[in-house]
Amino acid sequence: MSALRHFISLADWSPEEIEGLIMEAARIKAEWKAGVRPPILTGKTLGMIFEKPSLRTRVSFEMAMRHLGGDAIYLSPQEVGLGKRESVADVARVLSRYVDAIMARVFAHSVLEEMARYATVPVINGLSDDEHPCQALGDMLTVYEKKGHLRGLKLAFVGDGNNVATALLYICAMLGVDFAIATPPGYMLKEPVIERGKAFAARSGSRLLFTQDPIEAVRDADVIYTDVWASMGQEAEAEIRRRIFPPYQVNAALVGQAKPDVIVMHCLPAHRGEEITDEVADGPHSVIFDQAENRLHAQKALLVHLLSG
Ligand code: CP
Ligand code: NVA
Repeated sequence: MSALRHFISLADWSPEEIEGLIMEAARIKAEWKAGVRPPILTGKTLGMIFEKPSLRTRVSFEMAMRHLGGDAIYLSPQEVGLGKRESVADVARVLSRYVDAIMARVFAHSVLEEMARYATVPVINGLSDDEHPCQALGDMLTVYEKKGHLRGLKLAFVGDGNNVATALLYICAMLGVDFAIATPPGYMLKEPVIERGKAFAARSGSRLLFTQDPIEAVRDADVIYTDVWASMGQEAEAEIRRRIFPPYQVNAALVGQAKPDVIVMHCLPAHRGEEITDEVADGPHSVIFDQAENRLHAQKALLVHLLSG
């Protein structure tokens, strides 16, 4: 029997495995578009627990399972009461008796780690306060499709040093993509995250830049990426962040500082007019809806890997 694998942090997987998932996602997508639909996960069910709202993660995981012949069950924050109505350990133990994998969107990343300790089925991180690895997988599939390769490209993240930025640092540093991030003072990625990114980069040859200057970050960038200034759970800080972050808005002037064929990415949901302007989000450089679609294909590759070996 093969060892139980979880997908909680990109850092738990090897660069070769992550690259393999992206290539497999590209293959599955091409197959799907050609009308080839093998029911690889017939009889398998994904349990999806959400402590926070979602559009993309919920729908793309559910449709991924259905397209592959399987099923998915959505569990809302109210009905599960993770760690409140019932302990995280017991939720993990019980769900493992009903479903073949658990996808959870949580506040504290440690909840996922606790789940994984007690679950006897794979646990997938559908976003935590610390990391959004499924987002990064779909994003790298998008970059690969748009640019034809990954190694040697430069991705510049502009905004808050958050869960999405963390996943992007890891995946870029693993795959040999140069990564730059510009945040306001006090909003940079956490030190242990940076150290981990540097360790991956030392192996892949990625060049990393951590700065407060958005123009420096996007110089020669092939990809500009941004995300909301206040993430889910930080609503109380939204007002103060709205005063601090405007110099980090991705607008036409900033996009003009990157390579002429730069693509602009956003994990969505976007707060248009804050971290990104309508002009850029709906403009010729934007790939944000292809990016949203690719969550579906990337997660299919992940589900097939975890559930069918
Ligand atoms: N990008 C993303 O995870 O979107 P949702 O929050 O809608 O799932
Ligand atoms: N950083 C955002 C991403 C949403 C997909 C959040 O955590 O709310």
